[in-house]
Amino acid sequence: MKKVNYSYDKITQLIKDNAHKINNYNPDYIIAIGGGGLIPARLIRNYVKKPLYVVTLSLYDDDKIKDNVEIIQWIDIDLSEKKIMIVDEVDDTRKTLDFCIKRFKLINNAKYIGVFVLQNKIKEKLGQLDDDIKYISCENVQDDWIVYPWDL
Ligand code: G4P
Ligand code: MG
Repeated sequence: MKKVNYSYDKITQLIKDNAHKINNYNPDYIIAIGGGGLIPARLIRNYVKKPLYVVTLSLYDDDKIKDNVEIIQWIDIDLSEKKIMIVDEVDDTRKTLDFCIKRFKLINNAKYIGVFVLQNKIKEKLGQLDDDIKYISCENVQDDWIVYPWDL
C-alpha cells in the first residue's frame, strides 16, 4: 500500500483551517477517540474552548482478522441534552466510528452528534452515518496508508 507522510505542520494547518466549522456547530463537549483522535482533539482545543472527554477503543484480532472492537475506556455521563463532537484522525472503513456512535446513543443517550476527522478516505465504508449527524472532514483522500507524525 502506498504511504503518504503527514507532518505536524500540515496537521496543525488543517485543524486551524477547519476549526471554525466545529465552532459553528457549537458542541457542548469534544470527545476524542483514542488513540488516533487524541492529538487532533488536543490541537482542536487551541481553537474550540469546550471540555474534552476521551473514549478508547481497539480493534482486536479474531481468526487473524481485525474484526472486533474492544472497549478500553468509556465515559459514564448522560448526553441526552448535550451536543457532542466526536474527533478521530481518520475515517477509514468507518467501523470504529460507527461502533462509537451507536454506543454513545445506547449508553449515553446521545442525540446531537457530530463527527470531525482529519482525513476521510474515499472508499466503500462498513458503517453508515445517519443523516442527522454533522460530519466534518478536513480533506478527502485516496485510500493510501497515512503516516501521521505521531506514528513515527
Ligand atoms: P474508522 O472507523 O475510524 O474508519 O476506523 P477503522 O476501524 O477503519 O480503522 C482501524 C484502525 O486503523 C484505526 O486505529 C484507525 O485509526 C487506523 N487507520 C486506518 N487508516 C489509517 C491510516 O491511513 N493511517 C494510520 N496511521 N492509521 C489508520 P485504531 O485501531 O483505532 O487504533 P489507534 O491507532 O487509533 O489507537
Ligand atoms: Mg483510531
